[in-house]
Amino acid sequence: MRGMGVKIEVSAGDITRTRVDGILISLCEDSERLGLPTSAVVAVDALIGGAIGTLLDSRGLKGKPNEVGVLHSLGNLPARLIAVCGLGRRSELNVDRVRDAVAEGCRALRRLGCRTIATTLMGAGAGGLDDLVSARAMAEGAVLGLYQFTKYKASEVGDVERLDIVVRDPAAVGRVRAAADAGVILATATNLSRDMTNEPANYMTPTRMAEVAQELGAKHGFAVTVLDRPKMEEMGMGGLLSVAQGSAEPPKFIRLDYRGGPKGATPLCLIGKAITFDSGGISIKPSEGLQEMKDDMAGGAGVIAALSAIAQLKVPANVTCLIPATENLPGGRAFRPGDILRTVGGKTVEVISTDAEGRLILADAIGYGVKEGFSPLIDVATLTGACRVALGTAYSGVFTNRQELADRFLRAGARGGEKMWQLPLADEYRELNKSQIADIKNVGNRFGGAITAALFLSEFAGETPWLHVDIAGTTDSSKDVGIMVKGATGVPVRTLFEFVRGE
Ligand code: BES
Ligand code: ZN
Ligand code: ZN
Repeated sequence: MRGMGVKIEVSAGDITRTRVDGILISLCEDSERLGLPTSAVVAVDALIGGAIGTLLDSRGLKGKPNEVGVLHSLGNLPARLIAVCGLGRRSELNVDRVRDAVAEGCRALRRLGCRTIATTLMGAGAGGLDDLVSARAMAEGAVLGLYQFTKYKASEVGDVERLDIVVRDPAAVGRVRAAADAGVILATATNLSRDMTNEPANYMTPTRMAEVAQELGAKHGFAVTVLDRPKMEEMGMGGLLSVAQGSAEPPKFIRLDYRGGPKGATPLCLIGKAITFDSGGISIKPSEGLQEMKDDMAGGAGVIAALSAIAQLKVPANVTCLIPATENLPGGRAFRPGDILRTVGGKTVEVISTDAEGRLILADAIGYGVKEGFSPLIDVATLTGACRVALGTAYSGVFTNRQELADRFLRAGARGGEKMWQLPLADEYRELNKSQIADIKNVGNRFGGAITAALFLSEFAGETPWLHVDIAGTTDSSKDVGIMVKGATGVPVRTLFEFVRGE
């Protein structure tokens, strides 16, 4: 199965005999020396004169998470290089560690020129993980970890072409292959979200986002409807239209419909903020780091990518995605602080800051979702710098008006391998969004900014079950580590998929 470049194959055999450039093996931090005698590490070690054991004894290699030691086989194996990947403590071994270990191992071998890699199922057997869980995680680890955004580089960048997952039992090949294929689809969808987000704002305009959605809909089988300005006016989308005023790029309200579930069952609704560039508008942002604001459409990219995986894996659910897409620029027709606008549900909003634009376009999308009777509504947005301050760059913030929804969503995050942390929808702060002259204003006060933003959104959901994910901290990775590659992360594509698929 083909991912963003690497093809994942599953076969029965023995990795000490597989003809590839490099092999991956793994060990735990506290393995009794090399673990059980049946493991691949022991077999490989025996063929290379005990080099791995010697390294372990001398503490040159420890088996820590994300650690990789690369050895040369010196002709004792068909493979030229051996990457020994750390899985951390055996008692803490989980699927996240496996994903990260494969990602690190594959990257280390790629740096050394390997084009083909073989591996056994990491964490399975003595590690205690189910074979199929390991296979899916390994495929994800390879496809995510090897991701590169090279479109604008003139020089050819070498890539790993093939990862062979080698199992012992020929009867298991079919099942392991199916699990790996599902991993490839999910990771490829995540990489699609990364690609869209890494694209600069002069390419990834609202119009281009709509085209990408249309191409994906035709390919994977979901309907795509794109609303333009006149239709937005008819629908009363004052939030989206106001934010779009200052830009020459036409805004788009993108709707995707996938119907894999029972006829007539209420669709779940995924909503993604898609500001293709957030300058702040008239409340303009400082110029330092402003280039990062091309990422402000990551919520929209995430829901489009998640639906692609849902459709490809034919999940039996009815899902509609809503993506309000526009730039936020301070042009001559730009909306201003002090303006009052009217949203889809009829509520009026006093604009305090044109930089709090995400909640304005989401107010319209949430209002639209409520009107259509979708339930629950899940919105994903790079909404507040405050969320990044509160939770840092590892955890996305989760808010809801139904605890049961958050419980399910957090479990979906754990299965998907994305960290989610619930923050309170604190009723005490609701009054901070009160306006003197409109129904609500778009900024609270200095404190609890992620919470007052969520409270603002909750007003538009009303009684409809709703959950909000603030990904302002988690959209971008500053370094290559585990499955993360510098640049867009693709969070929370895999959580959305797991949530829709259910337990
Ligand atoms: N897109 C930003 C939030 C953001 C900040 C995302 C940093 C990623 C990294 C959002 O539109 C914004 O500007 N929010 C303001 C809200 C404020 C004006 C109430 C913020 O967080 O400063
Ligand atoms: Zn903003
Ligand atoms: Zn924004």
